[in-house]
Amino acid sequence: MATHKILLLPGDGIGPEVSDEVSAIIDWMNNAEIMDGATFEVEKYLVGGAAYDAHKVAISEDAMKLALNADAVLFGAVGGPKWDDVPYDARPEAGLLRLRKDLSLFANLRPAICYPALADSSSLRREVVEGLDILIVRELTGGVYFGEPKEIVDLENGQKRAIDTQVYDTYEIERIAEVAFDLARTRQNKVCSMEKRNVMKSGLLWNEVVTAIHRQKFSDVELSHMLADAGGMQLVRWPKQFDVIVTDNLFGDMLSDVAAMLTGSLGMLPSASLGAPDKETGKRKAMYEPVHGSAPDIAGQGAANPIAMIASFAMALRYSFGMVELATCVEKAIATVLDQGIRTGDIMSEGMTKVGTNGMGAAILAEIQKDYDK
Ligand code: IPM
Ligand code: MG
Repeated sequence: MATHKILLLPGDGIGPEVSDEVSAIIDWMNNAEIMDGATFEVEKYLVGGAAYDAHKVAISEDAMKLALNADAVLFGAVGGPKWDDVPYDARPEAGLLRLRKDLSLFANLRPAICYPALADSSSLRREVVEGLDILIVRELTGGVYFGEPKEIVDLENGQKRAIDTQVYDTYEIERIAEVAFDLARTRQNKVCSMEKRNVMKSGLLWNEVVTAIHRQKFSDVELSHMLADAGGMQLVRWPKQFDVIVTDNLFGDMLSDVAAMLTGSLGMLPSASLGAPDKETGKRKAMYEPVHGSAPDIAGQGAANPIAMIASFAMALRYSFGMVELATCVEKAIATVLDQGIRTGDIMSEGMTKVGTNGMGAAILAEIQKDYDK
């Protein structure tokens, strides 16, 4: 009997609220005996500002140990104005960045799917976004996020100098490109690589390495290159031209927020962060998190949209637990509930039924249950 170890890190702001909806789904799955004897074993821990309040660190060593041993980490959100003045190394985001780095989660998958029911919530016209299905593959453990030196130094003339370092080695570009090409083969077989080779050496190497890997191993996949600024423009002009976009850590951060908004709400988008497959078991370390942040302005009101968190769990079912059927069932339940006109505030429009976090979570769970009662 397989026991799948999940570490749940709800975090701050709306993180705990949206995490509760996933917990309810996991509890139901454990009791409904629909997983051929497999069960989920969930441990819950603090991260971000919540961990700082309790232990003065953004993530404790205990939590890191659990994360390293878990089959998957489910992460809510971190941060908020309450922690604006905590030391830089203990700021809530440091917990998230340490998890990414120490678990070597170099491949961040951010799908942007526009549910037909939500096409009118997008800031772009319906015909531009309806049916949109793109996947941003963001490099997550390198580039300017982690490059050294990273510091602010005092100059002799009373000025200061701030330094961040954008750095990429060949192997880092190779492995993220391979993930993108592999995934493209399961989709529309197209990859667009984005960098800024016109101003950055790292962009030049990025372009070279992606081109070389493509020639060596993936020539059946259609590859194009775009400068990242032009890519941003094309994303809002005609996003349906893209299938898989592969890009570095910083460009990926920005472009995925743009892509998210195309779909109607930041509250809709899940993500998966994966490490390399283990040499013996073939298993990848993995963390799943909604793309949205902690939204302190609506935290504690039960108003947050739990769809991104639930869809992140669906990605865990698919990528970490090999439960593709169950993953599809969860994703279909989300689409059905949206078709029924059920909406949280962020995606509300005229004539629809407004619900809170728990109302949305319960409606999705009810659809999942229906599917298994058949
Ligand atoms: C994201 C977030 C993070 C990032 C922050 C919270 C550190 O914006 O996951 O996109 O910049 O990577
Ligand atoms: Mg971001």
